[in-house]
Amino acid sequence: MTSAQPSLGQSILDRADLLAQHSDMEGGLTCAFLTPAHAQAQAQLVRWMEEAGMSVRIDAIGNVIGRYAADPAEADPKVLMTGSHFDTVRNGGRYDGRLGILLPIAVVGALRDAGIRLPYHFEVIAFAEEEGLRFKTSFLASSVLAGRFDPALLDRVDADGITMGAALAAAGFPGSGSIDALRAAAVDPATLAGFVEVHIEQGPVLLHRGLPLGIVTQIAGSSRFQVRVEGLASHAGTTPMDMRRDAATGAAEMILLVEERCGQVPTLVGTVGQLQVPDGSSNVIPAACTFSMDIRAGEDGIREAAIADIVAGIEKIAARRALQVSVERVTPVNNAPCARWLMDQFAAVLKKRGLETFELPSGAGHDAMMMQRITDVAMLFVRCGNGGISHNPLETITEDDARQAAEVFVDFLRHFRPKGG
Ligand code: GLV
Ligand code: MN
Ligand code: MN
Repeated sequence: MTSAQPSLGQSILDRADLLAQHSDMEGGLTCAFLTPAHAQAQAQLVRWMEEAGMSVRIDAIGNVIGRYAADPAEADPKVLMTGSHFDTVRNGGRYDGRLGILLPIAVVGALRDAGIRLPYHFEVIAFAEEEGLRFKTSFLASSVLAGRFDPALLDRVDADGITMGAALAAAGFPGSGSIDALRAAAVDPATLAGFVEVHIEQGPVLLHRGLPLGIVTQIAGSSRFQVRVEGLASHAGTTPMDMRRDAATGAAEMILLVEERCGQVPTLVGTVGQLQVPDGSSNVIPAACTFSMDIRAGEDGIREAAIADIVAGIEKIAARRALQVSVERVTPVNNAPCARWLMDQFAAVLKKRGLETFELPSGAGHDAMMMQRITDVAMLFVRCGNGGISHNPLETITEDDARQAAEVFVDFLRHFRPKGG
């Protein structure tokens, strides 16, 4: 069924374009958790899954779960899961996350059209939230499925003061955002055969090597923080420079510390992507400054050591400048290794198709990280065009790479053997 599918790649790209039309902003793609655009994207995904021959359900956090049921002759089928997220960063790309939903939907449609059933239930999950844009969470939707949801998050508020609990109740998912429903949405790990995720690489490695696809070895752990620095508002014209308690200049020094410390070790990276002077005025010395910190590394120990140094350094800077500081840590996610037996099955397909079996680590976070807490995971990366840029509207993939990825995925599914099988 592989040679007669030239439109498979194009149909995936076309659907990414269609899905990107549901956006919270004009002239770009922003799809934050539980906005009207998010609901429209969710409804569209339900329709596409149903059209492909899947039975579809929506769980308590808004994940769309489509099942392509196992061959009825199979006595006790396990569930092989795939999927990725459909929320986006602000003004993001249209393939980040979405490729890992649209590609398997297209693959299921092709299997159904060819009359092929699998000896296991194949579930495609459109995760409702991974990027953390609205509630500054991380891996929210996959944490529900993995039975790791933190109920305290229901009280977290968005920029408009709406709690996550209220937003979920208004969305009308099963259980209306109750803690019990969110707990009940966890999957039983004993039913799972594994979790595999297709994702755009979001970096330049495959592009520079001239390779369409890569097999991920591990996903770098990450920790996110919200930092609030407090000083004293006073007059910009009358307060001498050595008598100020300026929260913004304190924050600036802290941000440079993040850059300096994270530049010391390969794979360690640190980013301040949000920075605000709340209620600031051009003629008032900032009384407060808030910023986010995102720190990642290929090894948990390297990340933890950097965090300890940075937090200690931030406190020192605050003390020297007579500022108050609070550092709130969002639940960290540890480094997640991919399972060799699943990687080997992807490698066998690539080899059979004459493709290089190139392995690379992921610096970006993925839903597979959370799923790795309950089952073995693997990831297939697809080459990212435009120099490898992502979290940016310039993010792109080619029709041919999408086609190759889909064909590899079909082969992988058709030859999939459970662990030890
Ligand atoms: C997810 O996109 C991440 O922040 O790595
Ligand atoms: Mn992303
Ligand atoms: Mn992603």
